[in-house]
Amino acid sequence: MISQQTIQQILSRVDVVEVVGSFVKLKKRGVNYIGLCPFHNEKSPSFSVSPTKEIYKCFGCGKSGNSISFLMEAEKYSYVEALRWLANKYNVEIEETEVSPELKAQYQVADSLYIINQFAQQYFAEKLFDSEEGQDIAMSYLKERGFREEIIRKFQIGYCLQERDAFAKAAIAGQYNQEYLQKSGLIVVRDERPYDNYRGRIIFPIHNQSGKVLGFGARVIGKAERAPKYINTPENEIYHKSKILYGSYFARQAIDKNDECLLVEGYTDVVSLHQAGIENVVASGGTSLTPDQLRLVKKYTKNLTIIYDGDSAGVKAALRGLDLALEEGLNVKLVLIPDNEDPDSYVNKIGAAKFQDFVKANKKDFILFQVEILMKDAGDDTNKKAALVNQIAETIAKLNKAEDFTKQQDYIRRCSSLLRIDETGLNTLVNKFIRDKVMKQESKLPVDDGQYYEDQPPPFIPEDEAGSLFNKDEMSERGMVRCLLEFGLKPWDENRRVADFIFEESVDQNMIDNKELVRVMDTYKVWYDEGIEPGPKNFLYHEDQQLSAMVVTVMDFAYELSPNWSEHFDGKLPSREDLYREEVISTVNYLKLRKIRRMVEENQRDLERPHTPEEQLVLIQTHMHLKQMEREILKQGGTVIMK
Ligand code: CTP
Ligand code: MN
Repeated sequence: MISQQTIQQILSRVDVVEVVGSFVKLKKRGVNYIGLCPFHNEKSPSFSVSPTKEIYKCFGCGKSGNSISFLMEAEKYSYVEALRWLANKYNVEIEETEVSPELKAQYQVADSLYIINQFAQQYFAEKLFDSEEGQDIAMSYLKERGFREEIIRKFQIGYCLQERDAFAKAAIAGQYNQEYLQKSGLIVVRDERPYDNYRGRIIFPIHNQSGKVLGFGARVIGKAERAPKYINTPENEIYHKSKILYGSYFARQAIDKNDECLLVEGYTDVVSLHQAGIENVVASGGTSLTPDQLRLVKKYTKNLTIIYDGDSAGVKAALRGLDLALEEGLNVKLVLIPDNEDPDSYVNKIGAAKFQDFVKANKKDFILFQVEILMKDAGDDTNKKAALVNQIAETIAKLNKAEDFTKQQDYIRRCSSLLRIDETGLNTLVNKFIRDKVMKQESKLPVDDGQYYEDQPPPFIPEDEAGSLFNKDEMSERGMVRCLLEFGLKPWDENRRVADFIFEESVDQNMIDNKELVRVMDTYKVWYDEGIEPGPKNFLYHEDQQLSAMVVTVMDFAYELSPNWSEHFDGKLPSREDLYREEVISTVNYLKLRKIRRMVEENQRDLERPHTPEEQLVLIQTHMHLKQMEREILKQGGTVIMK
């Protein structure tokens, strides 16, 4: 393990501009650097690197992070690999902490298993290609199913002879340790005699990301009558079924290129699709997706398309575990293969081009698909229907990352229309689930002991994920509208009410970016100017559903102080009502400050361009004026809370 000191040394030397600059051509623009985003295709640069904040952010695709997350994302490095890369670049000598004897032993077993698997893979491939039995029994079967030699070689497919212990004998003659051979699942010992576990089967090696063989899937030839169709490697030091996506080693580049990962069930599906030229495909191995597998997909792409048989077992398996994919921020699509075919048989039947057309034409949105299935299932049963609405709301609530906000609203709209229920009601329900989740997360937050762990990225929170639901800016914008709706009619000073103050401070100055929120404020202002006293209710029952939905989310968002606060304050906690002036000032000031800072930046960019001395003077004066305004706001006695 890399020692803490080493990590600290590396982190103190990294320069995000240098690191990102090794992969992306950067140009200085004001205080920042810009370039073409490496994570999506673009012609004009929207990718920006901030040396002071030590982060990068793409305003096109939204990706952001620090030097380490950049390496992990762009180069698909693990955390440790990224550290090693940086250590090398900055000449930091890596100091490894003492590895415990148990860990050392575990590494040794792992190494041995890799070596045995490599030997076995080569042995089985040789038997398939070069033995009479392999050709007569196995190769002829594979050919009959349409697999060509080239693809069989690429996936390193092999054959295990029928003889009781042909492989065991070869392995032992080669000095491979019998204990490890057993661990690998290649041989089984019965009555103190070793025999081959995969006798008479086709062997599919399973590779890790870098192409090393982790284990095998061994298929019977022909129909499986008495024996199981597949025998798989048992769990051991290197083979962890829940972390394996079959084919990922061969699919990686194609997934990158297509920015999409196709997921099928079986080994043969992967091989057949590859043969048909569809290479961005991996298999889950017949079970529902695990969190580890999803994380693996997410390393490569956000777009996951699941291609399963149309039979009910396949569909059910597809639905299971997928909420998790949404939570991870993946875009999940579903394609069902018709007529009891699977991807392997279907692509063989209709050909590569038609198969690709079929996939394109039949991609269903996962959430909407779920609604369809559940609706069919519920029929006229009212109880089932109610449960269904809850389930859908919960699913939608899982799309709660900042970037997913519009997506969420879109689903609420589409699902409520599919379910023929009131959109506002569904919105409220979704918000309830979000709130429950936030509460749960907050009560579970780990204590930060300042340590990094091997497998985890450093404790860096991308800017736009701070505040679990919306980013700071959007929270403040919402906060502003919320103040208006809740406290607008309360007194501000002798002549004005809160609404007057807010309108003077904000609307005239364009402080709100979100168009929907601006619309709420405009609507409020029209009513207010006409002498109507608007409150949340006026909006809730507004005929414009979008407007009302927006107000629901603004009002519903859990702003309450966390429950354990009241303990500290001995029950004498001031309520939000009492503090409304502070809340209004703090929100307005935050937004003002944000606006000023943006203007400063803009001004600075302008300063970089050539100017006449007079122009330059104006710009410098503007800068000083803005800075002065900034200071004044900050001086207003601790009321600005830059969270
Ligand atoms: N599987 C397994 N053990 C079994 C059956 C299936 O591990 N007894 C896993 C395998 O990973 C298999 C996947 O589930 O690839 C899908 O199963 P299935 O569709 O039955 O097999 P295919 O791979 O499609 O095999 P074939 O086309 O040869 O029938
Ligand atoms: Mn199949």
